[in-house]
Amino acid sequence: MNIFLIAGARPNFMKIAPIARAFDQRETIIYKIVHTGQHYDQNMSDIFFKELDIRQPDYHLGAGGGTHAQQTAKIMTGFEAVCETDRPDLVMVVGDVNSTLACSIVAKKMEIKVAHVEAGLRSFDLSMPEEINRMVTDAISDLFFITEEQGMANLLKEGKSKEKLHFVGHVMVDNLFFQLKKLAKMDSAIFPTDSFKQSHANYGVVTLHRPSNVDNREALQTIFNTFSTISERLPLIFPIHPRTRKSMDAFNIKPGDNIKLIEPLSYMEFLNLWQDAKLVLTDSGGLQEETTALGIPCLTIRENTERPITITEGTNELVGTSREKILNAFENIMANNWKNGQRPKFWDGKASERITDIIQPILFRDAGDGHFS
Ligand code: UD1
Repeated sequence: MNIFLIAGARPNFMKIAPIARAFDQRETIIYKIVHTGQHYDQNMSDIFFKELDIRQPDYHLGAGGGTHAQQTAKIMTGFEAVCETDRPDLVMVVGDVNSTLACSIVAKKMEIKVAHVEAGLRSFDLSMPEEINRMVTDAISDLFFITEEQGMANLLKEGKSKEKLHFVGHVMVDNLFFQLKKLAKMDSAIFPTDSFKQSHANYGVVTLHRPSNVDNREALQTIFNTFSTISERLPLIFPIHPRTRKSMDAFNIKPGDNIKLIEPLSYMEFLNLWQDAKLVLTDSGGLQEETTALGIPCLTIRENTERPITITEGTNELVGTSREKILNAFENIMANNWKNGQRPKFWDGKASERITDIIQPILFRDAGDGHFS
């Protein structure tokens, strides 16, 4: 049985790494890695393959850049050509980026089965491109691997049959635990940002790249003003996404003196920073979950989240772009008045094994008639 494991953008790489490792443990599973090329900078892509021990992609579609339609179209055309010459039995997509959407549509139209890892998450905010990607991918997938119970509830509400839904936990947490163990054995002084960490007793880590926050001059300026106030008491370090860098240059926005802007970091160097941070300020999806897994206070610069368990059980709070909400939450964190949180069910490092246990018998049972039950 031949599986295609799809990755395209930065948040995909940490999800395919543990799945590939679990597949490697089973002799009967043959898989190929397809990199769509959605992210292409060395520090947005290649470095993750190296650090996360992902083998080189079997296919690279080189489909980065452009508008949503251009990018999605390039990925679809490239992926269709690959599937025509090397037809897989199953296409496994992860997350909610344009590559997830593009490859699932191509596979499904070629009557190839699709498995979606991180299925069922909903922000109910259609102004977010990822929400559209999540909805379309889930509308046509054959197998659903789910990270939190709300994902199960959403898919049942959308009429999915229960047998196709598998609550397995989070592959990204598998990767987090794996890399943490490696990091513990390393000398962190090799990371250039370790000197920042060592020279500040307390610090905060920032990431920001959502179009709603960074593509608009006023929104971005307001956020930076608030971060600047925070940084007078808590120095901030901010590995800056290419999209955000482009906006800051275009709008001529300067960070405050205590906000250290740096290039995007590798997984390990970033983990070395945020695992000991006083707080994380972010609009990322994954970081809301990773901070919950390690119990680090997280303020999410968004009005909604598709990952509600990080709030109900974890250490995350939604603060939007409101200066007042962000500063109130900041005061509470500085006064050590923050929830401790708990690690959600099945976020235990074994999600990829559960996925592999589930797909192996299905692939073999259905080898004859090509149908998933
Ligand atoms: C994408 C995902 C988003 C994810 C984010 C993580 C979609 C719709 N969005 O957003 O869900 O959270 O990745 O990073 O799929 N660029 C570079 N170098 C790169 C990558 C991008 O310069 O290596 C530039 C692109 O040319 C473009 C901009 O950054 O101008 C945005 O890239 P794109 O892949 O379209 O979306 P992201 O904002 O990265």
